Amino acid sequence: MKVTVVGAGAVGASCAEYIAIKNFASEVVLVDIKEGFAEGKAMDLMQTASLNGFDTKITGVTGDYSKTAGSDICVITSGIPRKPGMTREELIGINAGIVKSVSSSLIEQSPNTIIIVVSNPMDTMTYLVHKTTGLPKNRIIGMGGALDSARFKYRLAEALGAPISDVDGMVIGGHSDKGMVPLTRLATRNSVPVTEFISEERLNEVKEATKVGGATLTGLLGTSAWYAPGAAVSGLVQAIACDQKKIFPCSTLLDGEYGLSDLCIGVPVVLGRNGIESIVDITLNDAEKEHMQASAEGVRATNGLLEL
Ligand SMILES: NC(=O)c1ccc[n+]([C@@H]2O[C@H](COP(=O)([O-])OP(=O)(O)OC[C@H]3O[C@@H](n4cnc5c(N)ncnc54)[C@H](O)[C@@H]3O)[C@@H](O)[C@H]2O)c1
Repeated sequence: MKVTVVGAGAVGASCAEYIAIKNFASEVVLVDIKEGFAEGKAMDLMQTASLNGFDTKITGVTGDYSKTAGSDICVITSGIPRKPGMTREELIGINAGIVKSVSSSLIEQSPNTIIIVVSNPMDTMTYLVHKTTGLPKNRIIGMGGALDSARFKYRLAEALGAPISDVDGMVIGGHSDKGMVPLTRLATRNSVPVTEFISEERLNEVKEATKVGGATLTGLLGTSAWYAPGAAVSGLVQAIACDQKKIFPCSTLLDGEYGLSDLCIGVPVVLGRNGIESIVDITLNDAEKEHMQASAEGVRATNGLLEL
C-alpha cells in the first residue's frame, strides 16, 4: 500500500506520522514545493521508526511527482492555512491554483489512485478536484466531517463528564463555521441519547463550540490545527487501505442524495478499498434539512468563486 501526501507542512507531516505509527502502509511519500522540506520531514519521521516500532518507509521529495507513481491513495494538504480571524473560504484564491496543479500531477503518475482532499475551503477544493481530474466520484473524498465529528465528541464528553470512548456523534454539512450540522439528535452516550443527560441549552453550547472548533484553535495557535486533522486523515486512509467499510462523514459529490446535486458536501459514507463504497442517506428532521440546505447554499456560493 503506497500513500502519497502532498504538503509536508503541519497537517501533511502529522498525517504521515499517524499513518506510519498505525503500521498498515508499506510506503508513504511526502511531497512539498519548498526545497528540502519534505526530505527533512521524512528523515526526521524515519528516525522515530525504531522508537515507535513501525516499518512504513517514509520518503520525501521536492516537486518530483515521478516518485509518487503507482500510489494507491493520495492526500492533498498543500496550500495555505488560515490565520486568526480568517474564514476557510478566504483561502480559495491561492489554494485553488495549488490544488488544481497538484491533482493533475498526481493522476498523471497514479491514474488509479483515490484522492483525499484536505486543503481549504475543503468542500470547494473537493469539487475542483472532480472538475480537474474527472475521476469517478467514489475516488475523490473530502476530509472535514471526520475531524468535525472528533471535535463534537470531545465537546460532548466534556459536557457529559464522560470518557470520549463512551460518546458517539456525527457532524455533516459543509466544513465551515456556519455550514457544519452537528447531529445532536442522534448523539449518544453508550447508546443512550445524550438528551437524557444534558439540557437542550447545554447541547446547544456543545453545538456552537463544535462549529467554531477550528477557529478556536487558530486563535490559540496562530495557525490552524494539525494533530486532530492529521489523525482524521489517517483514519480515512486506514479505512480504505484495510477495506474496513467504516462510516465517516466525508465530502462527496452528491447526485440527488439529501435533495442535493452537483456539489461536494459532508454526508455519511462507507469507506473501503474502492474509496466511497456507498453514501448513507439518513432521514433528517425539518430543522436538520433546513440547516443542510443553508449549508449547501454556502458551499455553492464558494464554488461560484472557482474559475472552471
Ligand atoms: N479539511 C480539514 O479539516 C483541514 C484541517 C486543517 C487544515 N486544513 C487545511 O490544510 C491545508 C494545510 O494546512 P497546514 O496547517 O498543513 O499548512 P502548512 O503551511 O503547515 O503546510 C502546507 C504545505 O504545503 C506546501 N505547498 C504549498 N504549495 C505547494 C505545492 N504547489 N505543491 C506542494 N506543496 C505545496 C507548503 O510548502 C507547506 O509546507 C490548509 O489549506 C488548511 O486550511 C484542512
